[in-house]
Amino acid sequence: MTVLTSLRAAACCVMLSATPLLASAGTVTGSVRADQPGPVIAPELYGQFMEQLGTGIDGGVWVGPDSDIPNTRGFRNDVLAALKELQVPVLRWPGGCYADIYDWRTGIGPRDQRPVTLNRWWGNKEEHNAVGTHEFFEFAEMLGARTFLNVNVGTGSPREAAQWVEYITSPTNSTLAQERRRNGREEPWKIDFLGIGNEPNGCGGRMRAETFADLFRQYSGFIAPHGGTTMIASGPDATSAEWTRTTMEIAGEHLDAFSMHYYTLPTGDWSAKGPATGFDEAQWLATFERTYMIEPMIREQSAIMDEFDPEAEKALVIGEWGTWYDPTPGSPGGWLQQQNSIRDGLVAAVNLNIFHRNARRLRVAGIAQMVNVLQAMLLTDGAKMLRTPTYHAFRMYRPFQGATSLPLQLDSPGYGSLQAVDGTAARGRDGKLHVALVNIDPDTAMEVSLSLQGVQATRASGQLLTADAIDAHNTFDDPDHVKPAPFDGARISEGTLTTTLPAKSLVVLTLE
Ligand code: AHR
Repeated sequence: MTVLTSLRAAACCVMLSATPLLASAGTVTGSVRADQPGPVIAPELYGQFMEQLGTGIDGGVWVGPDSDIPNTRGFRNDVLAALKELQVPVLRWPGGCYADIYDWRTGIGPRDQRPVTLNRWWGNKEEHNAVGTHEFFEFAEMLGARTFLNVNVGTGSPREAAQWVEYITSPTNSTLAQERRRNGREEPWKIDFLGIGNEPNGCGGRMRAETFADLFRQYSGFIAPHGGTTMIASGPDATSAEWTRTTMEIAGEHLDAFSMHYYTLPTGDWSAKGPATGFDEAQWLATFERTYMIEPMIREQSAIMDEFDPEAEKALVIGEWGTWYDPTPGSPGGWLQQQNSIRDGLVAAVNLNIFHRNARRLRVAGIAQMVNVLQAMLLTDGAKMLRTPTYHAFRMYRPFQGATSLPLQLDSPGYGSLQAVDGTAARGRDGKLHVALVNIDPDTAMEVSLSLQGVQATRASGQLLTADAIDAHNTFDDPDHVKPAPFDGARISEGTLTTTLPAKSLVVLTLE
């Protein structure tokens, strides 16, 4: 295996509408340059990933049409409604590691006749394959999301991948297109993004970079999607300069995008990652330190791609990102269930800020995973559902999807080795200016003063997400324990925005 040059690292909410000035407060100064627009923030940076894993799909999004849980053609209505609010731009399926053991033929035809397969990667769970190709594309259609399909390289073949793609996208009268019609879908679907392989160095086949690059050339030569598809080559399970350069050298002319993965583990140790709740401040800080490690990785990957593609015609994708903790005690092995606290909400915001800063080449990302798995938007338990702090951060950042990024400079007090306050600014598709500010200091409020250049706005309003404990989270008994509150604690006067960020908080403002 190639040497990986970067680590595979990995109370009741306080609802404040006016900002309390806490005893100790730091001072942050900075500027927003609305007169120097940067790249567009691709909506697809807000993508979601759902894998056939634990209850990520079965029970999480899918209950079947005969369930007592209210559903639309088998998909939970509560989950659908919550996800529609997020305006999910793109949805990736079926994996992840599962993609490289997936046989697409197990997921078509009458559901009661589909084979039961064993999920070798995730607890050897029996998969009934109720959500297959038709269900995935219907679900994406219901959400209004673009589609990101991952084909099997590890245990599949170019023929199988090409046939699956023909089945899905062909408008012809080929036997495969007719089979799709017999299974209930007349019109072809569009595959917007096609991932070839997943973590090929590990669960995707224990390959070397050279082997995978050659396989990418082979697969992409036989797969012929109808309707325009972005073909994505997979990176390994951690960023590797060597892997990226090898892929670009050998397969660069055939790919449209290259995908990296990065997970945030508080300890950086896969055998003891750290708990999702009940952690101390040292782990809070370590989590943010490891979150910020993604930024130099993105820059390194982009710089390597620049060597081969200086105009950034090919995109960098972060196929998987998010926090990965020790599983919820008592949860089934391999289901990757974990709680989600205010820490995760702020980690999400920090990542999104980083993505915005690197939007020139970074154009697609998928948080892992959408429901019930890892850093999820939503958790379900039978008929119950709750929105996590990560969901709320994504919901608050919605105006940034498709917005034009603007330079935001901040001079902030430190927190550990980091800046306490990070942020992002952009001109939204609505023409308004949007500013997000995150204060990761868990004890100190921050007084912020931002000079606004090229901005006509006179007032600012928005939302605040904060909590009274570093591991505050939502439960099925108290599902709104951490949730955003209206925030009117920002002022604009003589071209300067002033506000106070509570400790451990996220504020998203719209300036008008
Ligand atoms: O998201 C969980 C797993 O993490 C995915 O299946 C795999 O791609 C990665 O290692």
